[in-house]
Amino acid sequence: MTNTPSFPILDGWAAIVLAAGRGTRMHSAMAKVLHPVAGVPMIRHVCDTARDGGVRHIVVVVAPDNEMIASTAGDGVSTAIQSEPLGTGHAALAGISAASDASHAVILNGDLPMLTAKTLAAAANRHLETNATLTFLTCEVEDPSGYGRVIRNGTEVTGIVEDAETDDTTRTIREINVGLYIVQTQWLRDTLSDLDQNTTDEIYLTDIVSKAVTANEIVTTESIEDSDEAHQINNRVDLARAEALMRERIRERLMHEGVTIVDPSSTFVDANVEVGMDTTLLPGVHLLGSTSLGVDCRIGPNAILRDVVGGDRVHISSSTIEESTLAEDVAIGPYCHLRPGSKLQQHVHLGNYVEVKSSRIGAHTQIGHFAYIGDADIGETVNIGAGTITANYDGMEKHQTEIGDRAFIGVDSILVAPLVVGARARTGAGAVVTHDVPPNATVIGVPARIQPSKGEEPGRG
Ligand code: UD1
Ligand code: CA
Repeated sequence: MTNTPSFPILDGWAAIVLAAGRGTRMHSAMAKVLHPVAGVPMIRHVCDTARDGGVRHIVVVVAPDNEMIASTAGDGVSTAIQSEPLGTGHAALAGISAASDASHAVILNGDLPMLTAKTLAAAANRHLETNATLTFLTCEVEDPSGYGRVIRNGTEVTGIVEDAETDDTTRTIREINVGLYIVQTQWLRDTLSDLDQNTTDEIYLTDIVSKAVTANEIVTTESIEDSDEAHQINNRVDLARAEALMRERIRERLMHEGVTIVDPSSTFVDANVEVGMDTTLLPGVHLLGSTSLGVDCRIGPNAILRDVVGGDRVHISSSTIEESTLAEDVAIGPYCHLRPGSKLQQHVHLGNYVEVKSSRIGAHTQIGHFAYIGDADIGETVNIGAGTITANYDGMEKHQTEIGDRAFIGVDSILVAPLVVGARARTGAGAVVTHDVPPNATVIGVPARIQPSKGEEPGRG
């Protein structure tokens, strides 16, 4: 999932991603290609494959009411509209019109998220080496149902027969059409304009194969060994299967990069997540969205992290953390909830049942037991006693709480915001603090008042 192609740039090439089908088999109000696989829209996986495979110019063919699809497909993607879903051939023609300068086009079905850039590059090489007019990708699969079958006369390809049009002989052919084609653009444009509508009123892109053969054009195929790459998504059963395949691939990548995953079957990692070496993921961990973690972390069991940036040696058990930043050596849990905008600095320790929202917590600060910290800025080496609440909401507005370095907040303190508690100040057990506390002062009671005599012990934290 990078923007830097892993393979040589295919100069003057375009990728055309077909994404304008009705997707009726999904039974969804949302376009098929927008359904996520491992947290990333299907179409994004396909466009990343094209981009990483070296194709810079990407055109996504969409239905008129789905123009926004391109915006989920990543950088540098343009849109072509297919006015009506009249088949993959018709969609490819719409795409070609938006890629008129390209010498060769890589046409990709939008429902093939498992396809890799390596495979695309191999097909591109084959196409160039053989000087072909048309190259397409095939695969031997156990169960070819639902796919177009590749028809050969000896070793020579003669055409593709769609699943619905197979007979008793062709139905058993196990070499299938994956849904990736590389074609000389000029030839394709002429040929597609020419393709007859077939009996189902659809123009099949697959018919270009027999057209090319008949016209004595060079047609080659590239085969893939790993049939998982050919997995297409037509319905929600296929979607769940893709999810399982993609997640397995992600986990294996992480393990090969030095991450220990104790129980892969209960560990869920989204496609764009990064995890550092020697980090251990215990059972029941979900790393979602754009989460990244440093080295030597220990996550889980049972932790959900969404869009979290974590440093090295972070320890998290049984907690939910969203859109937050955790510096090195932070320890959290069990049973904490960090909501968006939480920023924990080095060596912060949150114990049991701590909720934090939109707050900075300074280095070495400890919140050991059940507390709510919202809209707060807490300094370094602060002790927050059990049961502390920042009362940040007055029924109308949210207010800030500021706590200075080395302050000591006694158990069950209620800090009524807006409020500033100065550095090294102390609050007594059960204090309801309604006014700012100067540095070094001690406040006790309800409402809290400054203790006149110094040196008296506040409530235990
Ligand atoms: C297609 C192939 C089949 C192949 C299979 C594998 C055709 C005729 N058949 O079948 O040989 O084995 O993929 O992946 O191409 N789309 C449009 N506009 C349309 C129709 C479809 O943009 O009018 C898009 C869809 O959004 C989808 C892609 O084209 O992303 C493929 O369409 P789909 O309906 O899934 O084709 P299959 O029946 O699976
Ligand atoms: Ca399909």
